[in-house]
This record gives sequence, structure tokens and C-alpha cells, in this order.
Amino acid sequence: MALAQTPADFPGRATGYADVPAIAVGAAWYPEHWPESRWETDLKLMKATGFNTVRLAEFAWSRMEPEEGKFDFAWLDRAIAAAQRHGFMVVLGTPSAAPPAWLTQKYPDTLRVDENGRRAGHGGRRHFSFASKRYRELSRRIAVEMTKRYGHHPAVVGWQIDNEVGPASFDAESVAAWHAFLKARYGTIDELNRRWTTQYWSQFYNDFDQVPLHQTGQQNPGLLLDFRHFTTATWTDFIQNQASAMRPLIDSRSFITTNTMYWNAGFDHFVLHRDLDIASWDNYIPNGRPDWVSNGANHDLVRGYKQRSFWLMETQAGHVDWGTINRALDPGQVREMGWQAVAHGADAVLYWQWRPAANGQETYYGTVLGQDGKPNLIQPEIAKMSTEMTGAAALLADTQPTAQVGMIYSFDSRWALDLQPHNKEYDPIKAFTDFYRPLRVQSQGVHVLAPDADFSAYPLVVAPHINVITAAQAKHLEAYVRGGGHLVLGARSGMKDDANALWPERQPGPLAALLGARVAQYYALDEDVGITGTINGKASLWAEAIEPSARDVRTLATYRDAGGWLDGKPAIVTRKVGRGSITYVGALLDPETMASLATSLLADAKITPIIAGAHPDFEIAERAGGGKRVLIAINHGDVAHPLALPAGARPVSGDWANGSVAAHGVALFELAAKAR
Ligand code: GAL
Repeated sequence: MALAQTPADFPGRATGYADVPAIAVGAAWYPEHWPESRWETDLKLMKATGFNTVRLAEFAWSRMEPEEGKFDFAWLDRAIAAAQRHGFMVVLGTPSAAPPAWLTQKYPDTLRVDENGRRAGHGGRRHFSFASKRYRELSRRIAVEMTKRYGHHPAVVGWQIDNEVGPASFDAESVAAWHAFLKARYGTIDELNRRWTTQYWSQFYNDFDQVPLHQTGQQNPGLLLDFRHFTTATWTDFIQNQASAMRPLIDSRSFITTNTMYWNAGFDHFVLHRDLDIASWDNYIPNGRPDWVSNGANHDLVRGYKQRSFWLMETQAGHVDWGTINRALDPGQVREMGWQAVAHGADAVLYWQWRPAANGQETYYGTVLGQDGKPNLIQPEIAKMSTEMTGAAALLADTQPTAQVGMIYSFDSRWALDLQPHNKEYDPIKAFTDFYRPLRVQSQGVHVLAPDADFSAYPLVVAPHINVITAAQAKHLEAYVRGGGHLVLGARSGMKDDANALWPERQPGPLAALLGARVAQYYALDEDVGITGTINGKASLWAEAIEPSARDVRTLATYRDAGGWLDGKPAIVTRKVGRGSITYVGALLDPETMASLATSLLADAKITPIIAGAHPDFEIAERAGGGKRVLIAINHGDVAHPLALPAGARPVSGDWANGSVAAHGVALFELAAKAR
């Protein structure tokens, strides 16, 4: 096999190293919390847990640079060397999430200011201003010192910049950056005034420097949406400020990433990831009651940022400490959730954290070891999973989850809907997940896509609520339909442009002509309304009366709303366009109705599952690539279920016996190349 030169050469692998395990399992390890005499014991125990990876240093700024400009890496040299002796891969984090006290004391201007003008103090984390030039210089300097020292270290395979970036700052430098951002975006203040309609309530601006910086409150929706564009640009620049300096100093096969938080709305994650090698994220289930389908959507979203293998940088070894009731996952579920990540395209599962620090803000956290340094009850389960995963690494190498359904997630739309929900119960993430749920369960594979992604590999593309749509995005979707694709738009689609202004046409705005129909009126519901037709059931929270204008538009369902505005009006319409089609679903549907709609959409697009008739407790996924096909079957239920395997499936590992997968069991199979 040819040697990979960069991670981009191998989209089915997170790193570009052909000679390191393709699946990483491990934990966040903080050697700086412990006497060095303990390190050997910890590493041996990690080895015994089946781990092959440690993540280090992401909060260790005060240890690496105890005084300004005085660096101490001797301890980290020894920690990395110790990890290497035990054969571990190492991921290093740059420490900009946790500035040291000397820094904030000497440079209080770097401290974050909240929207009410309060400046942060020392003692927590993330208390810096994302726009501070001085903070960027200091962060870049420590990142460069680290990469100069470890950029070509044979144990180091990847770099994490910062840690869960956010929140925004409202200090003077941020305000100046906001004005510069608006000037670059609109060119002239007249253009900003036009796009935001600032004659409304006398908001008119004579100059950019009059525009206030706000993320909430009674502000112009154009301003509030642009605030999110501004935070996207500022965080992207913050990350690239480190990444661009680091890249020339590190082995080209190592990845650069930053760990994010799934539906976090602080910035557009598609944009932030453009110049990063891989995505990575932190998966937590605070109430200990996993909804596996919606958690799968979280993974698919993260995979979608780069459309390639990602890392699960952190996940709980049992329970968290920041929920309201920090219930632990049930026996078997930690392993189950680890395998779920891999099934959705993760090439790493790293636990947070290895052992609780003796003090500090997170002593109640679920960990692999207890405070006495001995394994917790969860350790054997994690060891079992880790051994299985590293055992399957060669098989999983270069494979990625397959899907025939694409789902569009638009950050602009989510923000616009959050800003003006019109029904307080309307939750854009729930609306997305409600569509995702039956599509994932029935098709056994969904990829989440940006609105400008390449849709050509997907017979069915669903945009649950593309509320904000640009002319270019509308054209792109139209081309997909004209090319034979089946496009489905959910309620509230095609209403706003990217300044959060109304499109002059009624919804779906620039796609109304293609649909041959438009939304005559939308209604927030406080009671369900029945729908009847090819699809029968209920509309909840939101309903739109659709008005077809073209003769060839087919109505799939109409409302039953005696005496109401909606009565007899179309709720779901569809139109054939060549070999493709466009469908508009003008209501939020209850789960059963959504499931029957999904069945008909999948049938129209001729999409069949990997295993037909699998019990609904099963999560079925296929990873394919490099001439291999791997089937992962996870039984999330409390009892064993039979599973009809595709012909030629060869069991590789896990809980497969007598034609069934055990309760909370995971089974891996290799499929013949043409098994599907
Ligand atoms: C993450 C964070 C970790 C740890 C963890 C606990 O947000 O990156 O440092 O705090 O949460 O859930």
C-alpha cells in the first residue's frame, strides 16, 4: 500500500499514518495532576484496559509555561516518552482554553466580557476574549512551542486545538472586529441598511461603528443572524491562527482538529472545519438514558462536517457531573455507545477521563479508575470494548459508513428559527431529529450534509427546515432534482435569505416555481390537526396551508380542521421533475405519521435497508471502503433478538450466537463484496 502523505489522502482514516492502528481507544490523561512515580502504573493499567491512545495537555498551559516566556516541557517530554514506551499513540491539545493566572493578571484586556458588560475573572476556563489580538499571540506562541518540540515526535499522531470553543466576548476589541466584519460583508452601510430593513423602528445607521454588538434581545433579526456569522468568522480565525502556525511544524500525516459539542449553536461548524483535517467531538448523555437514534444523529452531524472519519475525542466512562441527575449508563451501554460511534464513522473512542483529579471542578465525574487509583466497576466493560475494537482495527481501516439518504442541516436556518420560533414548542433540532428517526431506522444509513454539499450520491435528500436559503443554494437543490434526485423540504423552508429577510415569494421562496406550489399561510398550533390522504395522521405545533399552482402537483395529504383555516387545504404535495421529484411537507408530523411518510419517501427513491425486517431495537450500520464491507449490529434492547444476516456474512466478533444478538449486545460481521 502506498504511504499516505496527509490525512486527506485517506478519507476513511483519521490519520495519514498507514502504520498505526486505524482505530484509537484511550482516555484523557493528565500526568500533570499526579506524581511522576505514578505514571508507570497508570500506563500499565491503560494497557490492561486495551487502550492504545492518550490525549494530553489541553489544559496544561500553567505547567508548560509557568511564567511568561519561560517554557517547561521536561515533564511532558517524559510523559510522552512513557506513553511511547507502552506503545501508545498520543494526541496533544493546545492549551488556549485555560489561560494561566500570570497571563490574565498581566493582560486583563484578554479577559472575556459578557453581553452585559461584565468582565470574567480567573479560576474557571474559557475566560478569554476570542477577538483579543494579544490572546491570540500568546496562544499561538505556546502552540508553536509545542509543535516545534513534538511536531515530528514518532508517538504523536494528531493535534487538538483549544477545547470546545465558545462563548463569544463583547469587549472593545470584539466590537471593533464586529464593525470590520460587517464592513467586509456589506461593503457600504447603505447595503447593510437595505438588507436589514433598518428604516424599521428608526434603526437606520449612518456608519458601521454605530451598530451595536448583540446576540440576544430585541434586536433586528438581520443583526442577530449576522452576529452568528461574526462568531463563526471569529472562531474560525481563532483556530486558524494556531493551525496555520502549527501546520508547517508537524508531520504531514498528523491531523489537526478541534473538539466540538454536537448541536452547539455558537458558530457554523461546516465553516469552522473547512481548514481542519478531521472533525472530533465530545459525546455525553447526562441523564444516562440514551436515545440511540438521536445520539446517532449527533454522530452523523459531526461526520458531516468533513464527510470523512472523525474522532470521538471524549465520552463518559459511565456518568457525567453536570446534568441535573447524573445517572450512569446501564451495564453494557458504555460499550454499546462506543460501538455506536464507530458504526457512524468514528475512528477513535476516548474516555473522559482516566482518573478523577484529587480536587478541581470535576471530582464527581465518571472515570475508568477511582480516586484510589484502582479500576472502577466500569473498567472490565471498557476493556472488553477496547480489545474488540483494536482487534477489528485492520478490518475497519479505510471504511466509512454507507448511506443512501442525505439530510441537510443548515446553521443559518437553525439560528433563524431559534430567533423567531413563532411557537415556543418549535425546536429545530427536534424537528430535524423527528425526520431523521424513521429515515435512519428504515434505511439504516443517513449522512448529514451542508446545504452546499455534493448531493449526487444520494437518491433521497431531505431538508427538514431550510428556512434560510440563498439563491445559490436554491439553484444547487434545483439542479439535484433536475438531475434525477428526490428532494423533500420540510415546513418553514425557503422563507428567509441569509440576512434573515423575507424572500419576496411565499415559501418555499426560490423553490416555489420548481414545486409548482406555495405556502398560502402558516399556522402555529396549540392542538393537533388531522391529515388524511396517502399519508394519514396528525400535524402538531406547526401547519401550513399549501396552494398548488401547477396542474401536475399531487396532493399526498390534506388537513381535516372543521371550521378552521386549514380544513381541506393540502398539507403535503409532490411533483415529478423528470426522473426526480420535489416534495413539500407543510407540517410537523407525529412520530407514526412521520414513519409512514418515511416509508413512502424511501420507496419512491428505491432505497432498501441493509437488513430488512430487523427488530427496531437494532441499530444496523455498514462501513465500506478499501474493498471491504463491515456490518455492525447493535442490539440496544433489553432482550436478545434474532437477526437475518445477508448471505455470506462472516461473524468477526461480539455477541452473536444461535442466530441472535444478545441484549445490549454488539456484533461485527464481514460482508462479501456483493452481499447487498
Ligand atoms: C467537556 C470538556 C472536558 C470535561 C468534560 C466533562 O466539555 O472538554 O474537559 O470537562 O466536558 O463532561
